[in-house]
Amino acid sequence: MKLLEERMLKDGNVLGKDILKVDSFLTHQVDFKLMKEIGKVLAEKYADRGITKVVTIEASGIAPAIYVAEELDVPMIFAKKHKNITMTEDILTAQVYSFTKQVSSTVSISAKFLTSKDRVLIIDDFLANGQAAKGLVDIISQAGAEVVGIGIVIEKSFQAGRQLLEDEGIEVTSLARIKNFNDGKLNFMEADA
Ligand code: G4P
Repeated sequence: MKLLEERMLKDGNVLGKDILKVDSFLTHQVDFKLMKEIGKVLAEKYADRGITKVVTIEASGIAPAIYVAEELDVPMIFAKKHKNITMTEDILTAQVYSFTKQVSSTVSISAKFLTSKDRVLIIDDFLANGQAAKGLVDIISQAGAEVVGIGIVIEKSFQAGRQLLEDEGIEVTSLARIKNFNDGKLNFMEADA
């Protein structure tokens, strides 16, 4: 997605050898106009696939996911990283290991929001090692629902996430694919949409 790549080049900051800071439009401050465009492109790709729910994980997946859900006219559910006192009913959970933070955490979705009839599109802001996405796939499978695909805003193609998901037979659609950060500069490979 050209508009996204241009924005990453303009406002993204490379930190170290493998982190891209995009807090001015995606992960902290959110550019809703860009999110709306992202929503349109991902929704168009999955428009005829019978999607009934969009699922993401808090926090930064929520912004793009809500616009995809709006375009597809289906509910958006975000997995929670912390159980709160109102989650008294059955919950579906998965363990997610973060290589970045080197901690494992439990993510959860209330069982009442997913059924075996659901066809789910997963959306997330970053795909790195794919652990968050894998946790969501796990939860959706526990509900007996089907994962139709995964839409990603920024994929770091030099990390293992895409391969991990494709090995499970899941279609990945990434709007920007970072090949590497050689010399602190962003190099892209061809995106999926
Ligand atoms: P994984 O889910 O693909 O395995 O990712 P990993 O454990 O490596 O990353 C953990 C967190 O760091 C995730 O957010 C992920 O979105 C984010 N992340 C990974 N690479 C980058 C990057 O290059 N830039 C930025 N800005 N973020 C990155 P999180 O902490 O779980 O969630 P959130 O609350 O910030 O959304």
